[in-house]
Amino acid sequence: MITSIQELRDFAQKNERDFSVPKGIHPKEKRVVLENIGVINPDSIEEYIARGGYMSLFKVLDEMTPSEVIEEVKISGLRGRGGGGYPTGLKWESVSKVQSEQKYIICNGDEGDPGAFMDRAVMEGDPHRVLEGMTIAGYACDANKGYIYVRSEYPMAVEKLTRAIKQASKLGILGENIAHSGFSFSVEIRLGAGAFVCGEATALVASIEGGRGHPRQKPPHLSDHGLWGEPTVLNNVETFANIAAIIKNGGAWFKNIGTETSSGTKVFALTGHIKNTGLIEVPMGTTLREIIFDIGGGVENDKKFKAIQSGGPSGGCIPEHLLDLQVDYESLKSAGSIMGSGGLIVIDNSSNMVEIARFFMDFCASESCGKCTPCRVGTTELTRLLDKFIAKNATKKDFELLKEMCEVVKSTSLCGLGQTAPNPVLSTIKYFEDEYLAGIKDE
Ligand SMILES: Cc1cc2nc3c(=O)[nH]c(=O)nc-3n(C[C@H](O)[C@H](O)[C@H](O)COP(=O)(O)O)c2cc1C
Repeated sequence: MITSIQELRDFAQKNERDFSVPKGIHPKEKRVVLENIGVINPDSIEEYIARGGYMSLFKVLDEMTPSEVIEEVKISGLRGRGGGGYPTGLKWESVSKVQSEQKYIICNGDEGDPGAFMDRAVMEGDPHRVLEGMTIAGYACDANKGYIYVRSEYPMAVEKLTRAIKQASKLGILGENIAHSGFSFSVEIRLGAGAFVCGEATALVASIEGGRGHPRQKPPHLSDHGLWGEPTVLNNVETFANIAAIIKNGGAWFKNIGTETSSGTKVFALTGHIKNTGLIEVPMGTTLREIIFDIGGGVENDKKFKAIQSGGPSGGCIPEHLLDLQVDYESLKSAGSIMGSGGLIVIDNSSNMVEIARFFMDFCASESCGKCTPCRVGTTELTRLLDKFIAKNATKKDFELLKEMCEVVKSTSLCGLGQTAPNPVLSTIKYFEDEYLAGIKDE
């Protein structure tokens, strides 16, 4: 059992060894979230602690009040990495202010975007980092119970997290009266069945409760009425994985990385027609050109770059003339896309953008939970309409209908799935309209 910060330091010293940092990290990358990935053995709590792990948790228990922790997170400017970019400190503050006997912390490890594997890498490669972030959130918000929601397609993540929970509990880092602080926190894992919509906050809560993974109208927000009706903080894996570093180095340190409105780094899964595929972590504000051509090595087979798709099915396609765009929440939005959770798919000039838009729309149609009509019927109808353009069998009226239906689905769907499903279509119409017009037959 480790019962004080001094004992944690001694434990770290005892397990100290030379940790070599993996080769091949591009100078334009900056590792905060991924700093331990490939460096420590994720099965070893000893190695995590030897690298400074759980020191932030013990620091907050020893030296900081819950409101000081929240203040530090607010100073950092950390915004949720699950897609929406909501300020994490404000989310925690809302929950901390609600009076309740029972509160919950949920880690969203559903990660359903096609091509995304950032959260998976963190859960598999550095599970204790996620637990540390959640436990600090629990202390800050006066919650003593946490759940990690992981899709069952991620068996290795489940295995690593399960082992990490056992190890931390054995050392008294999770459980009752952690480090004699009076604060108790335990974590359980809940498996999802792999439905994209279950990544949406209210659907995820319904799924943990044993119900059908359907979203519900907000408000009430989870901060007031979350899991089993209790105040709940729900954050993404990467959001929690930033917390220990913020506490260790200070909120101002984190705020200094990135841009004015988007601080810190972002992990991206770089895939598609790109030479170097894989996970990268870059300071916010890095340009798309730097990501694709410097870090990614350029387009595969030396073909010409056509577009980059960011933000998964809720995102959009950004064309070549915007390659100098900085990746931050506002810039991507202004270009008709979103940051999303961090999928970046490079598209070369042999690809048809209507087919790309159709791929994402088909995904949304099959993942729509069916609860609300605009999403259930709209995404299916939009897929059918896109088929007509691909078959070069569409009419001018179809084009007008396509655009109108996109607006209707966006503005009338119940949850983020339907509200954002038209984005890939709208952004490809914006930048590649000629490819739609080429699908219209002569009348
Ligand atoms: C259809 C849909 C799927 C989502 N999937 C995920 C997901 O897999 N992981 C995630 O963290 N957030 C996902 N979100 C966003 C969550 O609803 C929520 O905003 C997020 O987990 C909050 O954490 P953050 O503030 O740390 O970003 C999804 C949202 C929608 C509408």
